[in-house]
Amino acid sequence: MPGAIYAEGLVKTFGDVRALDGVDLDVPEGTVLGLLGPNGAGKTTAVRCLTTLLRPDSGKAVVAGVDVLRHPDAVRRSIGLSGQFAAVDEYLTGRENLQMVGQLYQMRAKAAKARATELLEQFHLADAADRPAKTYSGGMRRRLDLAAALVVSPPVMFMDEPTTGLDPRNRQQLWEVIKQLVSGGTTLLLTTQYLEEADHLAHDIAVVDHGRVIAKGTSDQLKARTGGERVEVVVHEREEIAAAAEVLRGFGKGEPSVEEHTRKLTVPVTGGAKLLAEVIRELDSRGIEMDDVGLRRPTLDDVFLSLTGHAAESAEQDERNGKEAVK
Ligand SMILES: Nc1ncnc2c1ncn2[C@@H]1O[C@H](COP(=O)(O)OP(=O)(O)OP(=O)(O)O)[C@@H](O)[C@H]1O
Ligand SMILES: [Mg+2]
Repeated sequence: MPGAIYAEGLVKTFGDVRALDGVDLDVPEGTVLGLLGPNGAGKTTAVRCLTTLLRPDSGKAVVAGVDVLRHPDAVRRSIGLSGQFAAVDEYLTGRENLQMVGQLYQMRAKAAKARATELLEQFHLADAADRPAKTYSGGMRRRLDLAAALVVSPPVMFMDEPTTGLDPRNRQQLWEVIKQLVSGGTTLLLTTQYLEEADHLAHDIAVVDHGRVIAKGTSDQLKARTGGERVEVVVHEREEIAAAAEVLRGFGKGEPSVEEHTRKLTVPVTGGAKLLAEVIRELDSRGIEMDDVGLRRPTLDDVFLSLTGHAAESAEQDERNGKEAVK
């Protein structure tokens, strides 16, 4: 049985740009899928196709058990969406914005009011509740937009970069809200450029690049693919690099890589802290002076880098080079 969010071979082109080039996804009910990818990878396009805002050129999508292309209205009733660009009405207050959403979903005025108050508290907007949204900071707008997506608790939620622009404290708070939501049974697809966020919240991660899912798995599975742990040594003198490399060759699973200008040597290993201690003893006994030495486990950043060929942050470059040109 397909999951609460299911996509098969989704294709969407804009002129010459293949924003989605055959995307497959399957998100089991009650789980979180993190869609990870650089700027222009196709994340927002995927979310828009799955939430009926955009019609794919081809492919199949089923959300909450309903065919997205055949019954978009029914899908809309079962989903919540918080977009990358906040959809708040500037001239209404925070409270009015939330009440309006409740009314759009045919809640009774009293229930909509109570729900608005509850969400304003939860998102730390109570003090600003009766000010027009145009006086809100960027982070406040983002929180209001998220609150708006939660007025009715839909079984399936989509969040497009929910914490972009939030400060670390607000990001943490939002993570708590999201965890609560999911523990209540909601299925969530969230896009993010923060690897830490995917690591923290997502059961499964799909890495998207150029409109395709290039890797899928749990955070641990993806990290394991990148090649497990490594020992890193920074020697004190350049002259010691060769000798240190020889030591590492003896302990490692492969050829050590050397960064001359930083005097850093890295080698993949198995054996953890115990092996690290042995490496240190051996370097020491040969009189090789170390500025730094440690065991490094791959992070999602490493995964991202090895899969897409560029670091998550440098993705902004792509935006300037490619994305703007197409618009
Ligand atoms: N309405 C549109 N018209 C033309 N091109 C579009 C349109 N929407 C998206 N694209 C293009 O499709 C590609 C994927 O864009 P999309 O917004 O899905 O990427 P994204 O992964 O969400 O990026 P970001 O991280 O910057 O939000 C980009 O090359 C973009 O320029
Ligand atoms: Mg986007």
